[in-house]
Amino acid sequence: MIIAANLKTNHTRAGVKNYLDATSDFIDKSGARDRVFVFPPATALCESRSAVVVGAQNAYPAESGSFTGEIGSQQLDEFGIRALLIGHSERRHILGEGLDLVKRKFDYFAGLDYEIFFCVGEPPEIKEAGFDAVMTYIERQLDGIDLSYDRLILAYEPVWAIGTGKTAASEDILAVHGAIRRVCDKPLLYGGSVKTENAGEILSLENVDGALVGTTSWVSERFCALLEIANKLKKD
Ligand code: PGA
Repeated sequence: MIIAANLKTNHTRAGVKNYLDATSDFIDKSGARDRVFVFPPATALCESRSAVVVGAQNAYPAESGSFTGEIGSQQLDEFGIRALLIGHSERRHILGEGLDLVKRKFDYFAGLDYEIFFCVGEPPEIKEAGFDAVMTYIERQLDGIDLSYDRLILAYEPVWAIGTGKTAASEDILAVHGAIRRVCDKPLLYGGSVKTENAGEILSLENVDGALVGTTSWVSERFCALLEIANKLKKD
């Protein structure tokens, strides 16, 4: 399985260092077999550890240039970053990233062979409109994205479940993941209020190959507790 921590706008450089030390230590001692990724804020980007791949939460689709406030692949190269979140709902809905920019990011970083965590998920009003509306919405987000890209990892993260404590019901996760699986055979993560109380159930579901975790991942002990739950499931 793949378990990823999205630290969002939390932790300083020193905080991330402590976090990575504690998390890698835990993995080394516990012998966890899952692939673990941590996405720190851009100010704390650093090299990956043997047990933890460090990725970027965001980057602009250019090597360098005049893109005030953004970082490009040149800045990522400095830390050997090879994994990137693209299309996270906070970038789409809070920062206003449209389908076109998201697709340009995907094409650029796929061209550089990055491991891409591509996030999709519906806002609450679409969820209320029913399953067909949810799938039409997600299909639009996936339109033009190369679903056969070798280093693609998809993450289904319903917008209404992110940071709210409200997790999608298992039958909804099964239905959406099943539908995505029919068009894409790449790893498929669930994200949205994953915590120690529900991780066992969610990670056991068919077509759930791991989790993208926000809030619960921000404290290393809690993230390690999730890693322990995942490890016990003995799912590939
Ligand atoms: P959450 O965030 O776990 O706090 O819901 C998930 C995410 O944004 O990836």
